[in-house]
Amino acid sequence: MIYVLGSLNMDLVAQVSRMPKAGETMYADSFYTNCGGKGANQTAAVAKLGGKVAMIGCVGNDAFGQVMKDNLAGYGADVSHIVTVDGPSGVALITVEKGENRIIIDGGANLKLTCAQVDAALDKAVSGDILLTQLESDPQIVAYAFEIARKKGMTTVLNPAPARELPDSLLKNVDIIAPNETETEILTGVMPKDEAHLALAVKHFYGKGIKNVIVTLGGKGAAVSFGSEITYIEPRKVTPVDTTAAGDTFVGSVCLCLDKGRDIVSACRFASVAASVTITRAGAAVSVPTAEEVSEIIAEEGIKL
Ligand code: RIB
Repeated sequence: MIYVLGSLNMDLVAQVSRMPKAGETMYADSFYTNCGGKGANQTAAVAKLGGKVAMIGCVGNDAFGQVMKDNLAGYGADVSHIVTVDGPSGVALITVEKGENRIIIDGGANLKLTCAQVDAALDKAVSGDILLTQLESDPQIVAYAFEIARKKGMTTVLNPAPARELPDSLLKNVDIIAPNETETEILTGVMPKDEAHLALAVKHFYGKGIKNVIVTLGGKGAAVSFGSEITYIEPRKVTPVDTTAAGDTFVGSVCLCLDKGRDIVSACRFASVAASVTITRAGAAVSVPTAEEVSEIIAEEGIKL
């Protein structure tokens, strides 16, 4: 069973041909709203790809809250630990320009998660279950959840996005960390621009007591390390439409595969295929593929997991 503690945001997305200058007003090529938030996207990834997942989070009592909760329930996720609180839901203002996104978030209800809510949600969790979180929630609550999870013998996975400095007291309870390149630089002081720098960054995480490191490298794939060696995962070549939720699909898929008993390298290979599909579609949770879609690509292209 996978528990995802994290954010639910309503994404307000404008597709643009270029970014406006300061003081300039310009038309978007298109606009849409859709359900996002790193926590919700990762939950959706596990559910759509066939895993058992419960989300721990908060939505506001505004027009967006119930819509986001229903959306996740529609994918088959357990939403009984998503609490509706007074005030606005989380929102994300997103521009997509030539497939690349820029995101500004307002945390709203996501910042109202409490320790009591974590206790209630993890009450029935057992050794071997997985707790996955990101950093769109209060880091103190994330740290608390990891402490509880570690005591229960769960596997703890941190996707440190958006990155910020984190106390060693939080990092010491992390089994697997999965940052992208910029998050790696913020957390370690080293941009993993080549193998030597990547090795330095990995060493930094090892020094914090984290035994498994997965660095996603955008168009260059991903790198996995859980000992002395670094294994590279080649990306599947696709034409990007919108990269939103690609990282979330990757991390959610890794957890799904680990929960199903795959080793971490094989999990990353599967995750890389799943994320490559997300990139070819507009939107966040809605763009995550199903298990059948990923299996078809793996079979058709003869991809070895
Ligand atoms: O990772 C993509 C997500 O980041 C978006 O859905 C947006 O809500 C922000 O949380």
